[in-house]
Amino acid sequence: MRIGVIGTGTIASAVVEGIAGDGHHIAVSRRSAVQSARLSEDHENVTVHDNQAVLDRSDVIFLGLMANAAAEILDPLTFRSDQRVISLMADCPLERVAQMARPARAAAVMIPFPGIAQGGSPALGYGDTDLLQELFGARNTIFALKSEGELAAYNCAQAVLSPSIRMVADAADWLGARIEDHAQGEAFLRALVGSSLMGSDCATLLAALDTPGGYNQRLRNHMDRAGMNAALATGLDRLERDK
Ligand SMILES: NC(=O)c1ccc[n+]([C@@H]2O[C@H](COP(=O)([O-])OP(=O)(O)OC[C@H]3O[C@@H](n4cnc5c(N)ncnc54)[C@H](OP(=O)(O)O)[C@@H]3O)[C@@H](O)[C@H]2O)c1
Repeated sequence: MRIGVIGTGTIASAVVEGIAGDGHHIAVSRRSAVQSARLSEDHENVTVHDNQAVLDRSDVIFLGLMANAAAEILDPLTFRSDQRVISLMADCPLERVAQMARPARAAAVMIPFPGIAQGGSPALGYGDTDLLQELFGARNTIFALKSEGELAAYNCAQAVLSPSIRMVADAADWLGARIEDHAQGEAFLRALVGSSLMGSDCATLLAALDTPGGYNQRLRNHMDRAGMNAALATGLDRLERDK
């Protein structure tokens, strides 16, 4: 495919890394200069252009801009009706993408995560998820959503990632203060939590980790009593309310 990227920031760069080996021609916008230069140095099929030139040489276009800046940046640009646009922008409905990119077709909203650069990552998709599957499905898992309401709810719930990592990092620090090799301790905890979650659904895992009086049950009960569950529910409600 002839692919263009307007807004070559953190997440769009990861997306380009993830598909650069698939034989596409990829044109990226000059900004941000460091990321676009690095992508074109690392991949001979990635070239750097001004925004309009990116559009002129592309059939599928990724928008990796901040949503509040997108209208002003896209307004002076000319899209074609045969182009398909995939927006990476959170909190920017497909209808708004269509207005900003007309007469191109606003094909899909995709919320990827940085791991898409290496593959093996989940990504949320709404709209033409067949196109997302074609581009990313071989190495990543596209979770096709049924409405923008679902996308908004997933956007809130995915924020559990950072507090989960914080918890593992804190446990690794606690462990590291008691052992010789801090890095080995953290690697163990990451492998333990990551492989457990990949191997089973949450209800089965929790049941398996519920040995009466066992370490897991005692720590979980302590955290529940300390308000962890309530804090998570309140935090998610707040994200949903304030988005
Ligand atoms: N980060 C994530 O994990 C993630 C995940 C899913 C979705 N998203 C969404 O992806 C979007 C970008 O997020 P990000 O974290 O990648 O932010 P970011 O790194 O700040 O990317 C935004 C990019 O837009 C560029 N830009 C600004 N003005 C431009 C212009 N006139 N022409 C072309 N490019 C221009 C910026 O370039 P300069 O650096 O030169 O200003 C920057 O590279 C957001 O809407 C966010 O909601 C992010």
